[in-house]
Amino acid sequence: MKIAIDGPASAGKSTISKRVAQKLGFTYLDTGAMYRAVTYLCFKEQIALNDEAAIVAALAKAKISFGPMKQEGQQVFLNREDITKPIRSVKVTAAVSQVAALSKVRTALVEQQRALAAKQDIVMDGRDIGTTVLPDADVKIFMTASVATRAKRRFLENQQKGMPESLTTITKDIEARDYKDSHRQVSPLRQADDAVVVDTSNLNIEQSTRKILEIIRQKTKV
Ligand code: CDP
Ligand code: CDP
Repeated sequence: MKIAIDGPASAGKSTISKRVAQKLGFTYLDTGAMYRAVTYLCFKEQIALNDEAAIVAALAKAKISFGPMKQEGQQVFLNREDITKPIRSVKVTAAVSQVAALSKVRTALVEQQRALAAKQDIVMDGRDIGTTVLPDADVKIFMTASVATRAKRRFLENQQKGMPESLTTITKDIEARDYKDSHRQVSPLRQADDAVVVDTSNLNIEQSTRKILEIIRQKTKV
């Protein structure tokens, strides 16, 4: 079984996907963490963010792997280094959409994502899961919320993590990423024709989780 959950930044995708996967006993994969890991790799190896050939070469040599879900998000390793926290930094967040627009980077990561989905029941969240990575997914959700709601949520989340970014800075980052992610040439963020839209602006985490589980049950009878 394959469940695809796409949508813009901070709509609640990873929080809800993780809970849904737990409930169903499926694996959860946060594909955004993979694009963040590649961006981190660029900074670490001082590769220009537009040097596609160098990034792909570095990616081919590196091993990105996942550990269990943690408070800070999905645990991610670059080779043996635990990069769970640094991939959520302001610097990586501001740069990730640029790296994610590179077609060869996407090809390499999409291949890994499909290989993981072929092995197990999975809930995968990202921007292009229903449209490109798993076009034959059993259920496709397009999760969204207003920019103001999403910015406020990320602001509260960052405050809890001790990342004192202003609401204005976060709003600008979210708007800039929404624009870049929706306007890139390769696999832009868009709702798949057969996706169910879920607006979480007025739903808390519990209500959003219940809503997604209901949709999955209706579509798959699990
Ligand atoms: O958690 P947040 O919504 O802030 O972002 P994320 O899911 O960690 O994704 C970070 C960035 O990776 C996005 O802004 C996209 O540029 C890129 N991304 C993508 O292009 N395709 C995906 N399937 C997942 C993420
Ligand atoms: O993965 P994505 O960027 O779409 O969002 P997220 O990281 O799961 O959620 C962003 C923040 O919104 C987290 O702090 C969640 O706890 C919070 N959230 C919420 O308050 N209400 C919801 N219905 C969904 C998420």
